[in-house]
Amino acid sequence: MARKKVIFVTFLLFPCLSMIAFFMYNDGLKRNNFKKLPEANCKQNPPYLVLLVTTAHDQKKVRMAIRNTWGKERLIHGKRVVTYFLLGTSSTPSTEEDPISEELNTYKDFIQKDFRDTYYNLTLKTLMGLEWVTQYCPQTHYIMKTDTDMFVNTFYLVELLMRKNQTSNLFTGFLKLNDAPIRDVRSKWYISRKEYDGDKYPPFCSGTGYVFSVDVAQRIYKISFSVPFFKLEDVYMGMCLDKLNITLQELHQKRVFLLSKHTFSVCAFRNLVTLHGVQPQKITLYWDALQRTQDERC
Ligand SMILES: *[C@@H]1O[C@H](CO)[C@@H](O)[C@H](O)[C@H]1NC(C)=O
Ligand SMILES: *[C@@H]1O[C@H](CO)[C@@H](O)[C@H](O)[C@H]1NC(C)=O
Ligand SMILES: *[C@@H]1O[C@H](CO)[C@@H](O)[C@H](O)[C@H]1NC(C)=O
Repeated sequence: MARKKVIFVTFLLFPCLSMIAFFMYNDGLKRNNFKKLPEANCKQNPPYLVLLVTTAHDQKKVRMAIRNTWGKERLIHGKRVVTYFLLGTSSTPSTEEDPISEELNTYKDFIQKDFRDTYYNLTLKTLMGLEWVTQYCPQTHYIMKTDTDMFVNTFYLVELLMRKNQTSNLFTGFLKLNDAPIRDVRSKWYISRKEYDGDKYPPFCSGTGYVFSVDVAQRIYKISFSVPFFKLEDVYMGMCLDKLNITLQELHQKRVFLLSKHTFSVCAFRNLVTLHGVQPQKITLYWDALQRTQDERC
């Protein structure tokens, strides 16, 4: 009898358990397949706000502008703000050296995985950012996902986040509450009935820049395994939020996330959080002007 038990454990139960453990471990490895991780120690030096900036290989010029302006690590009202770039792999053959390997190793501010870096893979890119936060930086309070063609007034953003004082369940940005799928095949945002059959998207925030609390990042990351892939990244976030029953909120009564071109003035730019469609030289110009005039009154 006892011998039978020993045989059962050694020859049946143990191999089964190890196989199950192997597959669980393997699955974990697959998820954690980062190619590059930034030099960050969130445990030791927790940020208040992490800016995750989607970028492509050929955008070094604008990355440099961002590193020297709104993306520079700094304390704002005593709160740490850091910036990392989200990157896939370029279409150059893997035998050649990555054209930006020097930049990757110099600045150590990239989060990278092995997927084709294309516009319609932005959803993967953003989820990679959320996975990184979940695994490596759950100590941050807030995350902003934004892009390289943006001006971000991090000073005003931190001020508004501190004023709002909502450390969980927060998702904010330029709210799109009534957007419908574009059915014109010539559009960059064309979506077929097969991809999405509904006449309206769930509420979402424009992908140009949205901000959320860290619990929301973790919850979106987890639920993403049961929300089918959708190529428009900002709409996809809306689908996840819908499933999580998280309501979008305004950060301020006034509009502070702006989409369209805006002529520069110190007073106007002091009171905005994001502006879309800004060239690298302009990012530097506007940032320097704001820094120079800090003591001026509006
Ligand atoms: C997204 O990346 C995956 C993995 O590299 C690739 O197979 C797929 O073709 C890419 N999708 C698009 C639309 O580029
Ligand atoms: C922020 O909110 C918490 C409770 O949610 C409250 O205890 C605290 O006093 C608030 N802080 C400020 C500065 O309003
Ligand atoms: C979803 O949120 C609404 C209020 O916004 C609430 O009434 C409802 O009970 C929530 N449902 C779930 C499943 O949490």
